[in-house]
Amino acid sequence: MATERTLSIIKPDATRRNLTGKIIAKFEDAGLKVVASRRIRLSQADAEAFYGVHRERPFFKDLVQFMISGPVVVQVLEGEGAIAKNREVMGATNPANAAAGTIRKEFAESIEANSVHGSDAPEAAANEIKFFFRDLDIVG
Ligand code: RTP
Ligand code: MG
Repeated sequence: MATERTLSIIKPDATRRNLTGKIIAKFEDAGLKVVASRRIRLSQADAEAFYGVHRERPFFKDLVQFMISGPVVVQVLEGEGAIAKNREVMGATNPANAAAGTIRKEFAESIEANSVHGSDAPEAAANEIKFFFRDLDIVG
């Protein structure tokens, strides 16, 4: 399997509870490497643009309000099959359905406040990484 990069976001419910380190440790334990990292506060326009694919979904407005409710940590994770591996470590969107040991099972508060985001496909990963980082800021 090829080395890939994926975009991860530690969401406001997790930064509020000071879980950043515990979440990053899960990624590192799975063999993913943090090759870029920034703690930021998203504007409403940023969040709407980032989650643009969900614009027509009933939860879109709530999701945007949640994502701007506190700081987030945006990161690029690198590793063998990083896109799928990251999503495996994250667990299912709804923590009630997430497997034991996953981030969402251990830390998520709800289907919305589910602690982490991860790109879901190679094209999305490339676009989402570009949304937050310049090539110069990613050091493998
Ligand atoms: P993500 O994009 O954040 O990695 O999560 P995902 O692929 O597992 O889930 P997705 O379907 O892309 O949904 C994006 C985020 O929207 C919120 N959500 N709320 N209230 C709801 O029914 C609902 N469904 C989704 C979650 O924060 C989800 O991660
Ligand atoms: Mg998604």
